[in-house]
Amino acid sequence: MARELQNKTIVITGGAMGIGYAIAENFLQKNPRVVIILDINENLGNEAINKLAVKYGKNKAVFYKCDVTIDLEIIFDKIIEEFTTVDVLVNNAGISNAHLRKTIDTNLIALMEWSLKFWEHMRKNESGKGGTIINVASIYGYRIDPYVPVYQASKFAVMGFTKSLGHVTNFTKYGVRVVAICPGFTSDTNLGSGSTTVLPELMENFKVDQQLWQKPEAVGKAAVEVFENADSGTAWLSEGGQPITLVQ
Ligand SMILES: NC(=O)c1ccc[n+]([C@@H]2O[C@H](COP(=O)([O-])OP(=O)(O)OC[C@H]3O[C@@H](n4cnc5c(N)ncnc54)[C@H](O)[C@@H]3O)[C@@H](O)[C@H]2O)c1
Repeated sequence: MARELQNKTIVITGGAMGIGYAIAENFLQKNPRVVIILDINENLGNEAINKLAVKYGKNKAVFYKCDVTIDLEIIFDKIIEEFTTVDVLVNNAGISNAHLRKTIDTNLIALMEWSLKFWEHMRKNESGKGGTIINVASIYGYRIDPYVPVYQASKFAVMGFTKSLGHVTNFTKYGVRVVAICPGFTSDTNLGSGSTTVLPELMENFKVDQQLWQKPEAVGKAAVEVFENADSGTAWLSEGGQPITLVQ
């Protein structure tokens, strides 16, 4: 049975632009209670909620400035104080053009810290009401090419973390669904801006125009479908604007 986003309280990290913004917009079309956008970029975050307020109503989207590698505790407390319960966390904030430690800190360590904090909040065998954690991984979380080894390592780890925490054994016991989306190459985002600082020469033969591109909107739609239908511990490919498929 499809799950409903209606009346849900949703947190999206890195939601000010790109894929995160598209997920926010597609979730808002399902009339949730609120979408809370977190982003390190304050200007883009404010722009995002102004645009969303015009389309979906004034109190449907809120923005908190937040660096996911630093601000978990303070922002978690703020969200709970204001909204009491969070039903859905989308760990979307990610980077590809930083040094090794920053890439792992943002794409992996922060994603695990945020997941575990909200998992504790959601777990049903204590006071939680259950919930869903959606981790934005990548085709680079399971498909190898020779160009961005550190980014690949971060996304492979996101897949392992998601499948283990979201394992059916844990879902049955604790009632928190944990799933991943693996977007393919997605245009109109900032991800590729500034080249990778880890062995940039590996990128020399990378052929941008030979990739199966899609717009962020495709991942936004995929996220709704994943929320509605995916079993815990599963991962879903969203590539080339095609329907989502299960990643084995
Ligand atoms: N664009 C692609 O082709 C593609 C493909 C596969 C996976 N992804 C993944 O999708 C996710 C979103 O990427 P995107 O393409 O929309 O990129 P983007 O750069 O357009 O958006 C990322 C957002 O995250 C924010 N952000 C970055 N670091 C942050 C931090 N420390 N704290 C809070 N916010 C932070 C940025 O300000 C930005 O708004 C990432 O996890 C990325 O790895 C992207």
